[in-house]
Amino acid sequence: MNYKEQYAAYQAAIEAYLNNLFIGDKPYSKLYEAMRYSVLAGGKRIRPVLTLEFARLGGIDWHLALPYACALELVHNYSLIHDDLPCMDDDDLRRGKPTNHKVYGETLAVLAGDALQPEAFRLIATAPMMSAESRVEAIQVLARACGADGMVAGQVLDTVCDVRNEAGLTELNRLKTGVMISGAVELGCVASKMNGIMRAQAIEYADQLGLAFQIRDDMLDVVGDETVFGKPIGSDKEEGKITFVDVKGLDGCAKAVQECTDRAKAAVGNWPDRDFLWELADRMVGRIK
Ligand code: IPE
Ligand code: IPE
Ligand code: MG
Ligand code: MG
Ligand code: MG
Repeated sequence: MNYKEQYAAYQAAIEAYLNNLFIGDKPYSKLYEAMRYSVLAGGKRIRPVLTLEFARLGGIDWHLALPYACALELVHNYSLIHDDLPCMDDDDLRRGKPTNHKVYGETLAVLAGDALQPEAFRLIATAPMMSAESRVEAIQVLARACGADGMVAGQVLDTVCDVRNEAGLTELNRLKTGVMISGAVELGCVASKMNGIMRAQAIEYADQLGLAFQIRDDMLDVVGDETVFGKPIGSDKEEGKITFVDVKGLDGCAKAVQECTDRAKAAVGNWPDRDFLWELADRMVGRIK
């Protein structure tokens, strides 16, 4: 299977799994509707795809890792719903559609985000075919990635702290974006019980990919095409944010993205079955959405 076919196979399984969640008639159906609106809005699924690929590379049937992969994707979606709120980035467009609070109002948007978090941990806790030990480890990995010293810390640095230099922004990007990407990779390693040496290389790949991913996101906030990117252009500036683009310029950012990508590829350079990981990293360099 080539890269595109493999990505499409992962994506189809992720969509099918997520599409089965939060269904059924309830007096509070609006909540399910708001949750499904964001979860099924056409995200790229990069994080769960990484979980599944690392599960496959670790030697198991990747389908078994779907609950872990989709758990992290639920948390990712909660983070985006809250990230778009007026009290955060105040954005009206995501994935080419009105943001959650624009459709459902702020109250339901906050609550939909709230509900996605415990539901994610429930998916891991009840994952069929995974040992209790594996499930506990996966819960720890996800908690670390999205918790007080993970993604939320990054969001705090991004919104209420005045971070302006390159070292500070690198740490901010690592926390708000990198840790969720390395969390996704680590979940695949946990699912497949990957050995320690490979696991360390996998995490180095993810750390570098995550940094490249956020720097590219900052670039696209300036030079992207709204109809393709699916998010408002110029949002960071409007919110008064200092990003990598302010500190390094667009050319400096492009160079940094390439350097991180090269380091990501080198981390798994001696893996015989590295083609998918290499192509995914390469495609992030020039991504436009
Ligand atoms: C957006 O992530 C948030 C960032 C960390 C930049 P993605 O670009 O992966 O968002 P979707 O899920 O594909 O929409
Ligand atoms: C978002 O970073 C990171 C998280 C949601 C954790 P951004 O604020 O740059 O993401 P976009 O550009 O809105 O997707
Ligand atoms: Mg933000
Ligand atoms: Mg934002
Ligand atoms: Mg952004």
